[in-house]
Amino acid sequence: MTTAAAPTTEQFEKIPTKIHPTAAAAAAALAREVADLIRERNAAGRATVLGLATGSTPVPFYRELIRLHREEGLSFANVITFNLDEYHGLARDHRESYFRFMREQLFDHVDLKPGSIHLPDGTVALDKVFAHCQAYEAAIDAAGGIDLQILGIGRTGHIGFNEPGSTRDSRTRLIALDRITREDAAADFLGEANVPRFAITMGVGTILRARRIALMAWGENKAEIVRQAVEGPETEAVSASFLQSHPDARFLVDAAAAKALTRVKLPWLVTHVDWDEAGTRRAVTWLALKHHKPVLKLLDEEYNENGMAELLTRQGRAYDLNIRIFNQLQHTITGWPGGKPDADDTTRPERATPHPKRSLVLAPEPQDDVLSMGATLQRLVEHGHHVEVVYLTSGDLRVADAEASKFAKVLLETSETIATGAAGDAAGAAGDWSRQVAYARDMLAQLEAKGPFGDPPAALRRLKGLIRRGEARDAAQALGLSPEHVRFLDLPFYAKGRYRQFRLEDADIAAVRATLEEIQPHQIFITGHLADPNSVQGVAWRAFAAAWDQCGQAPWKNDCRVWLHRGHQRELEPHEIHMAVPLSPDQLARKLAAIRKFQSPTNPDQLTGERNRQTARTYDALGLAEYEAIEAFERWGA
Ligand code: F6R
Repeated sequence: MTTAAAPTTEQFEKIPTKIHPTAAAAAAALAREVADLIRERNAAGRATVLGLATGSTPVPFYRELIRLHREEGLSFANVITFNLDEYHGLARDHRESYFRFMREQLFDHVDLKPGSIHLPDGTVALDKVFAHCQAYEAAIDAAGGIDLQILGIGRTGHIGFNEPGSTRDSRTRLIALDRITREDAAADFLGEANVPRFAITMGVGTILRARRIALMAWGENKAEIVRQAVEGPETEAVSASFLQSHPDARFLVDAAAAKALTRVKLPWLVTHVDWDEAGTRRAVTWLALKHHKPVLKLLDEEYNENGMAELLTRQGRAYDLNIRIFNQLQHTITGWPGGKPDADDTTRPERATPHPKRSLVLAPEPQDDVLSMGATLQRLVEHGHHVEVVYLTSGDLRVADAEASKFAKVLLETSETIATGAAGDAAGAAGDWSRQVAYARDMLAQLEAKGPFGDPPAALRRLKGLIRRGEARDAAQALGLSPEHVRFLDLPFYAKGRYRQFRLEDADIAAVRATLEEIQPHQIFITGHLADPNSVQGVAWRAFAAAWDQCGQAPWKNDCRVWLHRGHQRELEPHEIHMAVPLSPDQLARKLAAIRKFQSPTNPDQLTGERNRQTARTYDALGLAEYEAIEAFERWGA
């Protein structure tokens, strides 16, 4: 759907919002602006006061600032910084403290003076927090106030850690973290239970006093909250919405985070639209869901009343349009995700030939595949396709310490038992098991030394990786796939990195490319295209997209379809679905059983399966057949 640019397109937006093609482009533009500001103020003989944020979002921005420092001589010698927040209870050298994050991401790489850096202190005793917060505010005032405040946005709509309920004039204070915020931090802390419950944060009022504010947001997970902040009412329920009344605040978003804005999602409400097939489908499904009606019951007047009169005049009567879109939706449904052999495939999502196909499942982390497409995987295997599941990373960062400890203890006890001959004949003769004993003891000692929050040494990560691999093989086997069709690429970006700090390398792309060229698949299943580009899924997608490009004009590519799913947090909207694989209650149960092979779950248990049920309910609401659950896919480039 192409839309004619018109000033009215942004009429619902109460904060100036720029949609950048990529997060990298947006971050580079903002870094350039910071550089200009610093140089301008330096020329006037004045310091620059920056308000800084942590989290995944500003990572590409800080990398660009470092580049400007190294390659273009940008100096931070005359810059003063104030960070938004810090977890309460974490010392400055704690692996997850925001102080440490800032050192690793920026401070250690530029010429900021140590005395110019300010973060709330997470170790302040509770009875001293109030005074500490007041002193923080006073320090900001003494520096002359913040010239430019950098922000991210949490899924609760928080800026800083101003969770729902924070008032417009709130000041720096201790706050309890929202459940969703703690859930989002769970991977960093190896489980939600380890995430601190409290943080010290600048208040909304503190933030609003900054002279200029720039909020960045990337990835589809932020799309709905960005819409609420930009288009919704100013409300304590979404603290970012208070930026609406700031005279110089703006949002920089990538295309995925802009997805829910009216000008992107419902452009016909704000501008003239050249209706194409995809846009028409989006409009019709939206109208049906809005009116709680099946597609086939939509009326002419409902189209007219919702800005779609032009669509009707071009397409004929509602009756004809409804049938056409209904048929398209109907044709997305298939129990044959690898194509149905010997069947007419003109209206099927996948081709009948070749059969069997080489089906490649590229999963960023173990469990991504099972969560989003476990039942589809099972069908592909059942239908005789050559399915290869390739895990791009070992997933060791998701394995809780308790799992590694359990494994090491079992190994220790087993080795000691065998070494003394007490295991009996089945274990063979007593022998030299000292190496196994030493290894198990070493792992337990490393766990002990690391404590709940320390950096895991490489050997411990390897052990956790082995555990995750075992679980991944078990899960694949539970879906009918034999272990020799499960591989691990162990991409370097993950093996060397940690959450929020991954860096894509040529070696990652080369490894994915080698896999593509070896398998020459007829279909590929993958996720991450709309994820935060710094998440595991986002980096994995970038590795795939670059590898795909590098394969150039390889003939197998002409015969290969790429099917996208949405990872574990979201589901596709109905107009985005090109293939809907229905699940019977039994198939869903089998999928859930496979998910349970993983001891450290990626998702809260209650969400598992719910997304697939919701997609089925949406299809039902549109007037299609009523299924227990549906796994949905979008075709790349369609
Ligand atoms: C960080 C902060 C938070 C984050 C927000 C988004 O200092 O104050 O508001 O900006 O939680 O986090 P990410 O960027 O990790 O999605």
